[in-house]
Order: sequence, then structure tokens, then C-alpha cells
Amino acid sequence: MSYTIALAGKGGTGKTTVAALTMRFIMEELGVSVFGVDADPNASLAVALGLDCEKTVSDIREDIVDKKLDFPAGMSKERYIEYNIEGCLIENSKFDLLVMGRPEGPGCYCYVNNLLRKYLDKMGKEYPFVVIDNEAGMEHMSRRTTNRVDLMLIVFEPTVIGAITARRILDLSKKLPLSIKEKRLVLNRVPKYGVNEKISKRLEDENLSPELLLGFDAEILEASSSDTSLLNISKDNPTYTALSGFLRQHLTAGVTS
Ligand SMILES: Nc1ncnc2c1ncn2[C@@H]1O[C@H](COP(=O)(O)OP(=O)(O)OP(=O)(O)O)[C@@H](O)[C@H]1O
Ligand SMILES: [Mg+2]
Repeated sequence: MSYTIALAGKGGTGKTTVAALTMRFIMEELGVSVFGVDADPNASLAVALGLDCEKTVSDIREDIVDKKLDFPAGMSKERYIEYNIEGCLIENSKFDLLVMGRPEGPGCYCYVNNLLRKYLDKMGKEYPFVVIDNEAGMEHMSRRTTNRVDLMLIVFEPTVIGAITARRILDLSKKLPLSIKEKRLVLNRVPKYGVNEKISKRLEDENLSPELLLGFDAEILEASSSDTSLLNISKDNPTYTALSGFLRQHLTAGVTS
């Protein structure tokens, strides 16, 4: 059974950055393959990994709904859809990436979405780890990707809105049709002087205790400004090092338990 890590958080807090670096950790430090799912309609995980995305799962969904796929004789509809999704995979030596694309339009997509989710679950099982990068808000997650998550990383910033949103996401995560084994808070872009008193108090009031603190990181920002893959930033980058320490502890414990 694969171990699924999903990212959640408000827009622009660092979900994609953490997702890409988590994939890098799994490949480079654990030495195993990982299946990445880019569930953000803006396909940013592909960009963070330095990849081009030509076709997305939503292109196939639209083709099915618009009846543009010619189902060949002798092949089940389900298998043919699988075959088309396989054509969307961005394959790499150590990881594969599937880009979900735009959310569905107003038509009825339940049948296709069910097939897609079934296929994603099947694909996921072929890799020891699955990393799902989500768009801001997590309402769509169970419908568009999976309903079983081992580790959810909720990324937020040390601001009042950041604390309020993290609390809201934690509360919402309990109401969704999602089974989440572990939830952990990641406080990102922490200034050099640390978290100020007001925010510390707010975190306490909201009952939020982040387990991983990542500082403001000029190399990370530069990578996204210069279209450099996060797979190519320095190995001793402080954000990557801190995240690696955290993941080493959590993933090895989670996988062996
Ligand atoms: N620790 C950090 N220090 C400096 N810049 C950072 C840090 N983490 C992320 N960034 C930068 O902040 C921007 C937003 O990060 P990212 O795309 O990972 O956020 P996101 O939560 O995925 O955003 P969205 O909701 O739009 O998908 C990027 O330009 C990224 O390089
Ligand atoms: Mg993102």
C-alpha cells in the first residue's frame, strides 16, 4: 500500500514548494520512486519540478463527456480511459507526474470522476509514495483525487490570517469525506527574528502547534523567479534540510507502523 502525502493551505503559502521538495526527498534520500499528482488547475507542481505539461486529465474528461473519444472494439471503456490517462503521465526516471487540470464544468461528471479516482488509486498503489499538491482550499480534494491520506501537511504563514486559515482548514478536514491518518502544520516563510508575540499568542488561542518551521528562503524565491526546478537547488538549502529532517522522522515512522 502506498503512503499518501497531501498538501493543503491558503493560496500562495508554499504548498507547491513543499510538495516538490517532498518528492525530491523521497527520491534522493529514501531512494524510492514517487507518484506526483498536480491537483491545482494552474499546474504549478509540474513547473516547480521543471517539467512541461502537454495533456491533463481534465482534457480526457472533457473528451469523454463531449464524446470525442472513439472507443475501440474489443477494449472495455474503462481500460480505454486508463490507456488515455496513461498518455498524460509525465514520466521520469525516479518519478511520474499526473496533472489533473481544470475542474469540471457544469455537466454531470460523476461517472468519469469515479473512474478517474479509481484509476488514481490503482496507480498510486504502484508507487511506495504518492504526493498530492492541491489548490488552495481542500473542498475538491476527495472528489478530484483521493479520499485516503496518510499525512496531510497544512502550510501556513505567521500572520493573523494565516493562523485563522490553518484553524479553518483543520476544522474543515474533519467534515470532508476524507480519511486522514495524520495532520501536521508547517509554518512557512518565518522571518529571521522568528514568530512575533502577537502571532505566538494567536497560534496558542487557535490551538495550533506547527511541527515544522521554515524560514524565508531567498534561494527558493529565486528558483521560482528564474524558472529553476526545485530539484536543482542546493542540497544544503536550509528549507530542504529542515523539511528532510521532518520527513525522515515522519515517513520512516509512518511507513513502518
Ligand atoms: N520559505 C520560502 N521563502 C521564500 N519564498 C518562498 C518560500 N516558500 C515559498 N516561497 C515562494 O512563494 C511563492 C508561492 O509558493 P508556492 O507556489 O509554493 O505556494 P502555493 O501555496 O502552492 O501557492 P498556490 O496557492 O498559488 O498554489 C513562490 O514564488 C515560492 O517560490
Ligand atoms: Mg501551488
